[in-house]
Amino acid sequence: MRSLLAPSVYNSPEVFAREQERIFRRLWIFAGPRTLLTEPDSFITRTIGGVPIVIQNFAGELKAFVNRCAHRQSAIQIAEHGRRRLACPYHGWVYDGDGKVASIPFCDSLYGFDDRVRTSRHLDGVALECVGSMMFVNLDADPMPLESQFHREFLDRIAYVSSYFDDEVLVANFGGGFNWKLIFENVLDSNHVPFVHSGSFAKLLPKRRPDPVQSAARNARTPPDSGLTTDLRDMSFTAETSIEFRHWPWHDNVERFSNEAKYFNYFIYPNVNFTSIAGVFFPIQQFNPGAPERTDYSMWVLTGLQKQPNPATPAILWAQAKGEKSVIDEDIVVLEALQRGLGHGASPAFQGTYETQLRAMARNYLDRMS
Ligand code: FES
Ligand SMILES: [Fe+2]
Repeated sequence: MRSLLAPSVYNSPEVFAREQERIFRRLWIFAGPRTLLTEPDSFITRTIGGVPIVIQNFAGELKAFVNRCAHRQSAIQIAEHGRRRLACPYHGWVYDGDGKVASIPFCDSLYGFDDRVRTSRHLDGVALECVGSMMFVNLDADPMPLESQFHREFLDRIAYVSSYFDDEVLVANFGGGFNWKLIFENVLDSNHVPFVHSGSFAKLLPKRRPDPVQSAARNARTPPDSGLTTDLRDMSFTAETSIEFRHWPWHDNVERFSNEAKYFNYFIYPNVNFTSIAGVFFPIQQFNPGAPERTDYSMWVLTGLQKQPNPATPAILWAQAKGEKSVIDEDIVVLEALQRGLGHGASPAFQGTYETQLRAMARNYLDRMS
């Protein structure tokens, strides 16, 4: 079967601009783990759908705004994360938790604004929802309810799992030279693992052959696409795989949501792979569209709740992140080469039965874009 997606959807600037509008500025998009924002005045910045966002803790309450000063549009928080009040670094305008201008240095003498003018200036608010310790933002003026995007059971599950997050978080950003959809398709494609990751991730998985496609299904008259879901909520789902998991003494210091030796995946449409390794580690990967042929990865790595502070945690997180990154680098080599081949003369992918989930995703994507 030919893929529903033409090669041009992976490299066209027009398609990219439309995705930013129809997908990334309309859906709920993951913004980061809430445990980064436990302190008053702690903040993170992100770019979502091409829009700069700041999420800031105001005396315990989290608020999200477009990170663009109401004076001359400077970013108000410049760092990726930190702890600092919401004050513009350019000319010192200070904002309160409602996004209103609380003070302007030399307001009378330099600007001549009275209180009415000053308080009429404000930041644009952005909808923010926390699902357990997972923060989501929505840039739409009239955001859809979270339940329209995700099944209730899925939300409950990620809320439960993320309630085990520790507040020491390693954050990493890096890039890949390919369209964001290729990496999401790759994450959903378990059949690449024994080939691309034969020396790394595949070693953790039990050796087994995939189940043969039933001959009845092979010979079925109804085309496999007839049952494809187009429900947006079906695009996000959970999966589990048994893994070889080696126990280390420090694991006893971690409160785990599960003690099973499993790799847990929570695919969060459109661009997050939230995973847990046996409830000990939580690597979260996000695939941000940077340009038609560039994906900006964000990765957060944390452990389950530590019962006692463990001075080795930064080293443990670093080692885990390095392991994750070396597996991702194996994907990047293949996907960058794939992207280079999507130019003139390329045809849509030719898919088999095991790629049904990709076809469902493509169907939903086309509905959303049309
Ligand atoms: S641009 Fe922010 S205070 Fe001037
Ligand atoms: Fe991979």
